[in-house]
Amino acid sequence: MSRTWFVTGATRGMGVEIVKAALQQGDKVAATGRTLDKLLEVFADAPRDRIKLLELDVTSEAQAEAAVDTTMHHFGRIDVLVNNAGFCLLGRFEEATAAQIEAQFATNVFGMANVLRAVLPVMRAQQSGRILNTSSIAGVKATANATFYSASKFAVEGMTLALADEVAPLGIQVTAIEPGFFRTEFLNDRSAIHGENPIADYKPYGSSRDLAAADGQQQGDPVKLAQVVMQLVALDNPPRQLLIGNDAMDYVMPSLIARIEEMRGFEHLTNTTDF
Ligand SMILES: NC(=O)c1ccc[n+]([C@@H]2O[C@H](COP(=O)([O-])OP(=O)(O)OC[C@H]3O[C@@H](n4cnc5c(N)ncnc54)[C@H](OP(=O)(O)O)[C@@H]3O)[C@@H](O)[C@H]2O)c1
Repeated sequence: MSRTWFVTGATRGMGVEIVKAALQQGDKVAATGRTLDKLLEVFADAPRDRIKLLELDVTSEAQAEAAVDTTMHHFGRIDVLVNNAGFCLLGRFEEATAAQIEAQFATNVFGMANVLRAVLPVMRAQQSGRILNTSSIAGVKATANATFYSASKFAVEGMTLALADEVAPLGIQVTAIEPGFFRTEFLNDRSAIHGENPIADYKPYGSSRDLAAADGQQQGDPVKLAQVVMQLVALDNPPRQLLIGNDAMDYVMPSLIARIEEMRGFEHLTNTTDF
């Protein structure tokens, strides 16, 4: 069965590979990104009858609505939404400015919400649809030195899991995908930004540049991530959360287990508040 996809952040990285993999299997794709010229360059060889290139900065609600309207006019339906657009604000809590924190949430959380608000009425009318919200291993394990990135992806997780419950009865299935470290431009200066207020007290404990130093060394291949996404979308009963990447389990599991153990360990304080 051929599907129609709507993918955000398709100018670089994982978004490009997801669009290519969907086209490869014969599907149609609305590939969206902040710059139309970049989309035209990246997808110069894509089959014109199965791709629609659309300008979409996810921070603009109006652009999200217009992109969805054009997609519906062009393809008539949206079967799969991939909310992939995002970036990383590296650095400690105190090192980020208010404007940087707002920009992080404007794209990773409110931007995702803009696209969801535009696509959900389409999927409700179809009584079907798949939504993949790109979270991160940092949306499962709180990640120091990427505090607000991690906070934004925790917000993505909360939004995704609650939405999944709300729309399941309407035939819409929602999954948070949680990639480990993948070799894209994500950690370099073309994508990541660093807190603007470096604080000397933290210096002995490392800097945001330590995380960014993994750029180019990440073990995850975005082409293979795209193949996992194709398999995920083909499942009748997809999970609501999916870790992707050979490093992902080891990254999140100890902290998940530690959280449960800590909660259990303090139950004697927790369960003391009934009338
Ligand atoms: N790579 C990893 O290790 C990793 C791990 C976990 C999660 N993720 C998540 O995976 C997703 C894709 O990241 P990536 O690794 O492919 O990084 P990337 O190579 O830096 O690509 C990021 C993409 O997001 C787009 N984008 C950023 N802000 C946008 C906005 N406001 N509106 C529309 N598009 C926007 C970029 O567009 P421009 O070209 O216009 O900048 C680019 O196409 C992100 O949500 C990221 O948080 C990545």
